[in-house]
Order: sequence, then C-alpha cells, then structure tokens
Amino acid sequence: MRLALAETPHRISPKFFYDAAGSALFDRICELPEYYPTRTELALLDRHAQEMASLIGPEADLIEFGAGSATKVRLLLSALQQPRRFVPIDISADHLQGAAAALRRDHPGLDVHPLAADFTRPIQLPALPDGSRARRVGFFPGSSIGNFSPDEAVTFLRQAAELLRGGGLLIGADLVKDPALLHAAYNDAAGVTAAFNLNLLVRANRELGTNFDTTQFAHYAFFEPRLQRIEMHLLSRRTQTVQLGGEAFTVQEGQTLHTENSQKFTVEGFRRLARQAGFAPGPVWTDPKNHFSVHWLAAPQ
Ligand SMILES: C[S@@+](CC[C@H](N)C(=O)[O-])C[C@H]1O[C@@H](n2cnc3c(N)ncnc32)[C@H](O)[C@@H]1O
Repeated sequence: MRLALAETPHRISPKFFYDAAGSALFDRICELPEYYPTRTELALLDRHAQEMASLIGPEADLIEFGAGSATKVRLLLSALQQPRRFVPIDISADHLQGAAAALRRDHPGLDVHPLAADFTRPIQLPALPDGSRARRVGFFPGSSIGNFSPDEAVTFLRQAAELLRGGGLLIGADLVKDPALLHAAYNDAAGVTAAFNLNLLVRANRELGTNFDTTQFAHYAFFEPRLQRIEMHLLSRRTQTVQLGGEAFTVQEGQTLHTENSQKFTVEGFRRLARQAGFAPGPVWTDPKNHFSVHWLAAPQ
C-alpha cells in the first residue's frame, strides 16, 4: 500500500481485495444478474464434466488456484474417478478453511488439503501420504488469469506447467464481447462490486492504520478497448491526504488507485498465451453466446 500511495499512477495488486469480507463480497458478485462469468462457467462445467473428467483421468491430485468458496470444483468432483486429493490454494486463509470444511462434509471420502498461500510465489505441494507422485491436474476457474498482465500470465502459467508436468490445467478464460455487457458486469445496479472495490480501503484502515475516507473515493470500472480489459479503479473525489505509518501522502482530485485489471481473451489468443508458457492446448468449451471459455491445457513431461 505504501508503494501504491507513493508512486503515480497509484497501483495495487488485486490479491489485497481478499480478506474475509472481500471473499464474502466476491461470493455475492457471483450471484449478481449482471455477472455472467460465474453462471456461464458453471454451465460449461456442468455440461462437459464427463469429458473434462476423462482428460483429468483417474486418481488425480487436483490443485485449485484461488479456490475461493470452491463451488465450481464440486461439478468436477462428482464426475471424477477416485481423485487422490484436492488441494485448494487461496490467499484468503479463513475463507479457505471454511470452504475446505464444507467440502469435507459433502465428500467424506475425499482428502482435502487446503493451502493458504500466494499462488504467484513458487508452490511447494505437500507429499501424498504414501510418498508417491500422482498425476497432477490444476484447476484455475473464474478467469482469474485475466487479473495478471500478459507477461505475468505467462510467468504464472510457466510455473504451473512445471508444477503439473505430465498432467494438465483446466482453466477458465473470459472472452471479448459487447462492451455494454462487460461494463454492466463490473458496474452492477446493487453496488456490490463498488463495495468489493472500496473494501480494499476499509481493509487498509483496519490492518495498516491508514485513514482513507471511503466516502471520498468512487468505484470506477470501464472497458479499455485498446488493451481489451476491464480496469477497476478507486477515483479520488477531491485532493486528500492519506496517513500511513507516520507518513502523509497526497492523492489529487480525479487521480485513481488502480485496483484490478480483468483481461478479456479470444480463444486463439488464449491458446497462444498457453503455448508460450509451455502448455499444449487441447479441447476448448464455449457457451452458445461465446461469452466464456474453458480450456484443457496439457502439461508436457
Ligand atoms: C475472482 S476470485 C475466484 C474464486 C473462484 N475460483 C471462482 O472461480 O469463483 C479469486 C480468488 O483467488 C484468490 N486469490 C487472488 N489472488 C491470489 C493469490 N495471489 N494467491 C492465492 N489466491 C489468490 C482470492 O482470494 C479469491 O478467492
């Protein structure tokens, strides 16, 4: 946060959205009528679960990056043949424990091994109880890959290809579409996305002792056509001073704190990105309106 305030343009990683309140707000976003990605991806997983399960294969070690409430994986789990283990990884530690407990309740035979970690850092998977190495398959839904810059996405995918070598990655990628639909999805009428964005400041006030006045920042999200991404910002309504650790930072009226990008892809563009990272792209599933895509990427040995 210090860096975000000290440097212009002011930028902060979206991973800081996700304290317990941020994770709960994200769950509410998923239910919004304007937020097409969740229901579209769920429908794709539901419709093609058998085909996806046969690519994943029996007795897989399934690793989910940014699992959140681990809702989508349930559709896969019911189609999978005897998964060895499920490792949900998330930075929002309390929320992750809750999601893991709910999964254990509903899948009593499943070995659920939550990992509270930052998936941008190298991931050390715990050994399987018998010390063997099962076929590893990653699951990265929600088009969270779009929160990275293209370079960061390749770096993340390279690291994933190495972790999953010999297995594969099932990954959701949101597609370019009518900008009005995109705009509505990040500017919902109920104001939940605005609350999610502003929660970053609430969190900073609580955890870092900043004095952000949340009424003096506006949620601002728009589609940037040149870069084909939604940008989410917090726009300062006036020139104001923010205190952090004994230092004072000025944020000018109209300046923004850039909180998130959400890249939109074409199917071919995404496959190119995956190839660049060392994956061999396989089947792709899209909905009839071409709003969202789910890709199977094989990770070479
Ligand atoms: C957009 S939500 C997606 C949740 C869920 N996978 C879905 O598709 O609905 C992103 C999730 O990734 C987690 N997350 C974001 N950045 C992360 C990071 N660097 N490391 C680990 N988890 C992260 C968040 O806590 C959140 O649960």
